Amino acid sequence: MLAIRNGRRVRARLASVGAHVPDRVLSNHDLEQMVDTSDEWILTRTGIRERRMAAPEEAASDLGIVAARRALEAAGVAGSQVEAVICATSTGDYVFPPTAPLIALGVGATGALAYDVNIACSGWVYGLAQAAALVESGLVRNVLLVGAEVLTRYVDFTDRATCVLFGDGAGAALVVAEDDEGAAGFLGFELGADGSRAEELMVPVGGGRRPARPGTFAERESCIHMNGREVFKFATRVMVDSATRLLEGLELSIDEIDLVVAHQANSRIIDHAVARLGIPPEKAFTNLERYGNTSAASIPIAMAEARDLGVLRPGHLVLMVGFGAGLSWGSAVVRYEPS
Ligand code: ACO
Repeated sequence: MLAIRNGRRVRARLASVGAHVPDRVLSNHDLEQMVDTSDEWILTRTGIRERRMAAPEEAASDLGIVAARRALEAAGVAGSQVEAVICATSTGDYVFPPTAPLIALGVGATGALAYDVNIACSGWVYGLAQAAALVESGLVRNVLLVGAEVLTRYVDFTDRATCVLFGDGAGAALVVAEDDEGAAGFLGFELGADGSRAEELMVPVGGGRRPARPGTFAERESCIHMNGREVFKFATRVMVDSATRLLEGLELSIDEIDLVVAHQANSRIIDHAVARLGIPPEKAFTNLERYGNTSAASIPIAMAEARDLGVLRPGHLVLMVGFGAGLSWGSAVVRYEPS
């Protein structure tokens, strides 16, 4: 695409959200048949009852296209009008090409600029920051942001410590340019990463360092490896620190936030952070009970469900907080202004 800045100031607006999850449900009781675990253990340690699993022929782009269409429909925007597609994913269809061009093709966004953001469960918030920046720079008039993951493809279903956590799904949002002089729709972001802790959450094989070649690795090496306790400690600390830094920087009190949508990894992590931040529990929307951890898709899936339930309403100021592999984190304060 060709983009020429015209010098006009624009602001970015979060116009819509949408979501899609695969049909197949994998319950805690199903997992009881596969590893030495129990519904009770999983529920009390994680808050998860069930998660979704993509069909063998379904990839991240397939889930992402459906979620993207729903976000476009909600905004009343045709795919052909989309100027940029960003896909936040760590489980894209291929090492390359990226997944975003495939989603652009699927929604009819012919010729739109399209690329992936790979920062695991922080991907949604990073992607949102990029979408807002692309629009506010004047480079494009809208961005379709899609978080799409098929994490179960990387789950070792003999490892009870990780196989209970993850699920598949996709969420999307349309960010559009507004020429009005209204207050900023995207109030601010706080993003960061600490590569020294990369090994605490990783898929060791399948990248350029250790390519997936037959006979060169144990099968488990191409699955998710996680130091659960360390990630848990990191997540609880970083959620509080990142959200606090952002709210202080914006001179916002927690009372001014209408809804908190955190990365849906573990209800204990969310409960802890919400309590430490002094957020009334009813302001924190969670749906991980039914979807588990869907990484970059978890926040938009929760946003779309909150919208459908009337919990997320027009004009609401939403605090989103993500954390994950990297290790990485990201917070955003965004006003939901549907078309
Ligand atoms: N069923 C039964 N027992 C289990 C299971 C299971 N599914 N999994 C582990 N256990 C056992 C362990 O073997 C251990 O037994 P031991 O004491 O005999 O050694 C015991 O339960 C306690 O294990 P812990 O790891 O200490 O359990 P913890 O309370 O920390 O819960 C959990 C584990 C749920 C993984 C937790 O650490 C956690 O949620 N961590 C964060 C994970 C996360 O959010 N990761 C995603 C980040 S986002 C991204 O980028 C992908």
